Amino acid sequence: MKLFDVYPVNDIDIVKAAGSYVWDDKGAEYLDMYGGHAVISIGHTHPHWVKKIEDQLEKIAFYSNSIKIPLQQELADKLGTVSGKNNYQLFLCNSGAEANENALKLASFHNGRKKIIAFSNGFHGRTSLAVSVTDNPSIVAPVNETENVIFLPFNDEEALRNYFKNNGKDVCAVIVEGIQGVGGIRIASDSFLQLIRALCDEYGAVFIADSVQCGYGRSGKFYSHDYAGINADIYSMAKGMGNGFPIGAISISPTIAPKHFMLGTTFGGNHLACAAAIAVLEVIENENLLQNAEDIGNYLMTELKKIPELQDVRGKGLMIGFDVPPKLSELRKNLLQKHKIFTGQAKQNVIRLLPSLALTKIDADKFLKALKEEVAS
Ligand SMILES: Cc1ncc(COP(=O)(O)O)c(C=O)c1O
Repeated sequence: MKLFDVYPVNDIDIVKAAGSYVWDDKGAEYLDMYGGHAVISIGHTHPHWVKKIEDQLEKIAFYSNSIKIPLQQELADKLGTVSGKNNYQLFLCNSGAEANENALKLASFHNGRKKIIAFSNGFHGRTSLAVSVTDNPSIVAPVNETENVIFLPFNDEEALRNYFKNNGKDVCAVIVEGIQGVGGIRIASDSFLQLIRALCDEYGAVFIADSVQCGYGRSGKFYSHDYAGINADIYSMAKGMGNGFPIGAISISPTIAPKHFMLGTTFGGNHLACAAAIAVLEVIENENLLQNAEDIGNYLMTELKKIPELQDVRGKGLMIGFDVPPKLSELRKNLLQKHKIFTGQAKQNVIRLLPSLALTKIDADKFLKALKEEVAS
């Protein structure tokens, strides 16, 4: 049987990982500035995370949501504390798309409306509603096309105000990434997020903060939307939540009431996933990783801005992007092949850095040295 060929892959077989490093089957060591696509939050195979999963595996890995699973409450308590939203409610699922799918569906259940506002260049996942609010027609199948979604220009306050003025009573929800990831590390301005909050309040719409990539401490705050000093009604999360163990969730404001069976999933909130996610939050707290993401992120950004060839260095914490001019079009490939450093990409010319939140200054310097060498060559 062949694999269904949907991913263009590098010819590298990674067999081992620790912290910010991975090793291939020939023993070559790579610095991971890509975090396996923003997934590695506390570092590859962190010993506390491994131990917690191993211990849980010895006890029980899975039972259905038809029974009490105290680990879910433990995770909810911990997430409430670390995210600073103790009065929110937690629904557990398995991926980012599923989290957004549930967020959008819940918003519609809540206010009985259908129209969703999403933004240009946004990415929210590949399942039906999630892909419908994603601004990329090439991944939207005909069956996912819907008139319920309206795309407005990102960070355009006038367009948003006008849309609400004319159609506000029909708006079910606004979904927005605090920092667009796939869209090329584009930051939602504080005033834009504050306007979304104000308009959602005025018209009874639900504010959904897609924090799948920009959340979980990556920006230096738990949710990147926190920089704007607002609370969203629903936060979706996944990637960093399990440090590679598949888990997603939505954190739901106390103003939205649950009803039995309105949402559900077989695997969501299983014992093993909860153990992994609890371990992640414990490490984030114990190792002060939000502060580390902010400090090392600021350091990287300051140093990157000193390299004149790199254009528009931007980001927050350890979610950083910059544009690469055409003469450096081989930069990402060379970093990987010559310097054994993984980086991410967005569009053809944007390099994305999404390393572990535990990245050290030594590793940041190693990356900068290789980058400077490549730019100069
Ligand atoms: C902002 C954002 N939302 C949602 C998703 C979808 O997450 P998943 O691939 O886990 O379904 C992604 C994935 O890259 C993302 O970046």
